[in-house]
Amino acid sequence: MNIKVIGNYIGKFGELWEQSLTDLIKEGVAGVLADAAIESGEIEAIFVANKAGGSFNQQRHLGALVSEQFSHFPPAMRIEGACASGGLAIIAAQQALLSGVYKTVLVLGVEKMTDVSTGETSAILATAASREKEYGSTFPALYGLLANYHMNRYGTTREQLSSVVVKNHLHAFDNSKAQFHKKFTLEEVSNSAPVASPLRLLDCSPISDGVAAVILSSRDSVRKTKILGFGHGQDTLALADRQDLGQLVATQKAAKQAFNMASLSQKDIQAIEVHDCFSIAEILAAEDLGFFAKGQAAAAIANRQATYGGQVVINPSGGLKACGHPVGATGVKQIAFLASLIEAGKFDIALAHNVGGSGATAIVNILGKK
Ligand code: COA
Repeated sequence: MNIKVIGNYIGKFGELWEQSLTDLIKEGVAGVLADAAIESGEIEAIFVANKAGGSFNQQRHLGALVSEQFSHFPPAMRIEGACASGGLAIIAAQQALLSGVYKTVLVLGVEKMTDVSTGETSAILATAASREKEYGSTFPALYGLLANYHMNRYGTTREQLSSVVVKNHLHAFDNSKAQFHKKFTLEEVSNSAPVASPLRLLDCSPISDGVAAVILSSRDSVRKTKILGFGHGQDTLALADRQDLGQLVATQKAAKQAFNMASLSQKDIQAIEVHDCFSIAEILAAEDLGFFAKGQAAAAIANRQATYGGQVVINPSGGLKACGHPVGATGVKQIAFLASLIEAGKFDIALAHNVGGSGATAIVNILGKK
């Protein structure tokens, strides 16, 4: 593996009513080129991560929309894997670099979700679940099932779910790009409005607009961040077809592949950005990625083992929960954010974990200092 992150950019996440989808794309392209300090003509191909521009914004064909921001119109394609679109685009770009066809490529993730109502957004997001077997379900409802199962089987408590949220809002407080800069107490989370039992409003990632971009290159670079390994796991689309609702097998498979490729283990990793679309999802991720034994992550997070000074820092950006979750941008943001921390010397080795649907698709990338 000789792939460097030579540029990274994250736009402000939030309800960006003053910016169109195209404005976000322009911002992402300009921002990442400026950060990489390269000429736009050096971009040889573009991978665009986007879940549902056709539904949120009546705009498909996003590869062309990003390519036309360049005077030489690089070859471009859109990659979709629900909320894992960003992670998928990152590994598709790496595979193109490893093939030797390209040496420098742009990965841009973008989603503009807030131009439609919450009900419409929920219905659009639900298209990532099984239409035939989960018709009518929303994602809070599906993750609510996973939370109930975990609570019944492992004794995970309401307060432990809330501790994930309290931590991630605390981490986001120092992240200028985060959607929320608001700290909450355990009681405020546990008593927020019910959404899908046992999940409450503050257990949920928000509805967000945002863009993130990275430039990956196999050329020599002064930049310090390399991708050390990646993994991609799949599982059934519908929860009803799973053997065990206490684990996300796709995450386990993706982690195993990434750790093998990087020749590393969990003890080598200092920080992880995990796919906490709901509080329970962070607990599942911390276990399925192998950082905590099954049934023990919730207590560990509540005991401050997932923040600075603990075993591993989980979601230093604030995660999807507090940084925001513009779905196609999220997986790219995770890589851009961790690369910026490695460049700044805050961590040496970090891991990103991006999930599509209720665990059908999972992507893991491990980044490290060259
Ligand atoms: N976390 C923290 N605060 C939130 C929030 C969240 N997830 N969602 C909304 N808020 C805040 C808003 O900022 C607003 O605060 P204000 O009154 O101070 O301005 C308040 O809560 C009400 O917001 P509103 O926009 O009316 O919320 P909503 O009812 O439209 O949406 C949810 C709330 C939970 C239903 C929505 O965020 C949601 O569906 N989240 C899940 C998204 C999802 O499924 N993603 C895919 C995951 S796989």
